[in-house]
Amino acid sequence: MSVVDEIKQKLDIVDLVSQTVKLRKSGRSYAGLCPFHSNTRTPAFYLFPETQTWHCFGACGMGGDIFTFVMKRDNVDFGDAMRMLAERAGVTLHRDPQQDSNTKRLIEINRTAAEYYHYQLKHHAEAERVRTYLGKRQINAWAIDSFEIGYALNSYNALLEHLRSKGFSVSEIESAGLLVSNEEGRVRDRFRGRLMFPIRNRRGEYTAFGARAMSDDQQPKYLNSPDSPIFSKSDTLYGLDAAKNPIREANLAVLVEGYTDVVVAHQAGFKNVVASLGTALTEKQLSQLSRLTKRYALALDADEAGAAATERGLNLARQALSYKNAPVPVGPGLIVFKERLDAELLIVEMPPGRDPDEVILQDPEAWRVLVSSATPLLDYYFNVQARDLDLTTAQGKSELAKRLLPIIAQVKDNMQREHYAQELARRTRSDERMILEQLSALDKSDAPMRVKQSARELPTKPTAARYDEYLLVLALRDPTLLAEIEFLRADDFDQPDTRAIYDAMLEYNARAVAFDVDEFIEGLDEIARDAGERLREASKRIQFNPNEAPRELKAAAYRLRLQRYQTELTQLRYLLTEAPQDEQQELTRRVFQVSGLVAQTKRALDARTVPKPTSQR
Ligand code: UTP
Ligand code: MN
Repeated sequence: MSVVDEIKQKLDIVDLVSQTVKLRKSGRSYAGLCPFHSNTRTPAFYLFPETQTWHCFGACGMGGDIFTFVMKRDNVDFGDAMRMLAERAGVTLHRDPQQDSNTKRLIEINRTAAEYYHYQLKHHAEAERVRTYLGKRQINAWAIDSFEIGYALNSYNALLEHLRSKGFSVSEIESAGLLVSNEEGRVRDRFRGRLMFPIRNRRGEYTAFGARAMSDDQQPKYLNSPDSPIFSKSDTLYGLDAAKNPIREANLAVLVEGYTDVVVAHQAGFKNVVASLGTALTEKQLSQLSRLTKRYALALDADEAGAAATERGLNLARQALSYKNAPVPVGPGLIVFKERLDAELLIVEMPPGRDPDEVILQDPEAWRVLVSSATPLLDYYFNVQARDLDLTTAQGKSELAKRLLPIIAQVKDNMQREHYAQELARRTRSDERMILEQLSALDKSDAPMRVKQSARELPTKPTAARYDEYLLVLALRDPTLLAEIEFLRADDFDQPDTRAIYDAMLEYNARAVAFDVDEFIEGLDEIARDAGERLREASKRIQFNPNEAPRELKAAAYRLRLQRYQTELTQLRYLLTEAPQDEQQELTRRVFQVSGLVAQTKRALDARTVPKPTSQR
């Protein structure tokens, strides 16, 4: 039994959910108000004790098991939900206990240090000037407490001695990043005479510090803890523990650069604000946010924003966000996987030379307006690229087209691509049709910047959409869905490899108690295994609204069957023109028969149960 199953067996979804949702019994299930979308009247949220699952039939349309419930409720990933539920269930996870306790210990040291620094800031005479400084920066008592801001005394060993008195060893304190050693190997406090910002990870655990200089002779201005087993500077977003729920509620994450920007924003009630620690935005940071929202507003200083709006910046943003590959069967000959960049990157155009904290302190309303009128990254890019060109000259116009066309060509959404083509036409005062022509030329020439990596991994037949692969990817992602397409026969597949895999799936499914995908792939014969592995990997990457999956799978099955019939029809018609008289009648009969099947399949395709449209935030 897997750990997941063990946990599920030991916990009851009704117990768990009723902690946060008021439930009433309704037949064999329970109903309540959905905690994941704002609803006031109708209880659309249902719990099914028999299957230990939940589903919202209202606006959000989400559903799942205890794990997905905790992930949603606490904004955590699967691993965190697992840890939490395992603890609740009294199930031990198979992990290195030594490493676990080390991690705990390092966090404990940082937490103890944060408490100590915070206490010194509030009470020590040496911190008087620091308290004055915070007053000048208008950081109030609430913010000081809630971010546990502190002060490191100008001492070689004040922290060291304090931590030792609490029972931590020098080597532990050192690996927590709080000490430095000199040439003779003597250790001393790393942070001295600095304003301390404890850095907490998204679970609120103390992992590091950011330390601001308090006098001009201290370098650098900000000193961070070194990377350690519990801290990686480039993965961290300062303030995320406090900001995660507000980000989800606002459906927007505002990214700033500095600690003080975060503190001041939260103090002023703008709680969906986090900071990257003086590094360019990384994929890891964005992926942590992507669970909370798909909308990001970057409030960077002008230089940084300029850098974001370069081709490199655009590509980076795309890379960081584009792992949401969605399979989209698009017409004959087209790809199964397509990037769906449903993330929205906005640039907050800051007044030159001013940081968010200054803007907020001077006029919170001005900040609110700046954020709500943030410019979409691509529009911003257009502005930046046009800035140095004289668009009244032919040369300027063609230069702008040269710069922007390759970017527009990459916009996947047709509507948006057209929008930006129009915008380029408007700026260069040229004919939109000409722009579109150039765009399609660029398309054909396979512009080097086109991101097609995932399409390449899943080879497509030139003549037909690979519904077979798409279907298997969906089925491997959730084999319980096979029940939806019981009507589909291995014969409906015209490719031998996918046919073999589907055939094996049916057989495995009939025999196994539960469908273990890895075991299934292992058990495939060598020839099918490569394809199987490739499809399994693809199945891990696709992102899908679980509500849509059964319908998508059915649709793919019907389309696959349609494809087969249509191929057959084409063949029959060809044969009809060639066949001798005495065979014509039989062929014609078959044409009618297959045409009937085509019509029937089309009806089935149209009629496949269409769930209520679900809104995804
Ligand atoms: P800034 O120098 O703009 O600092 O660096 P700030 O946040 O405006 O600081 P105040 O307002 O003067 O107090 C922005 C961010 O870059 C990182 C820090 O995370 C800082 O908040 N940084 C900056 C460093 O890591 N090291 C440095 O030496 C400077
Ligand atoms: Mn600043």
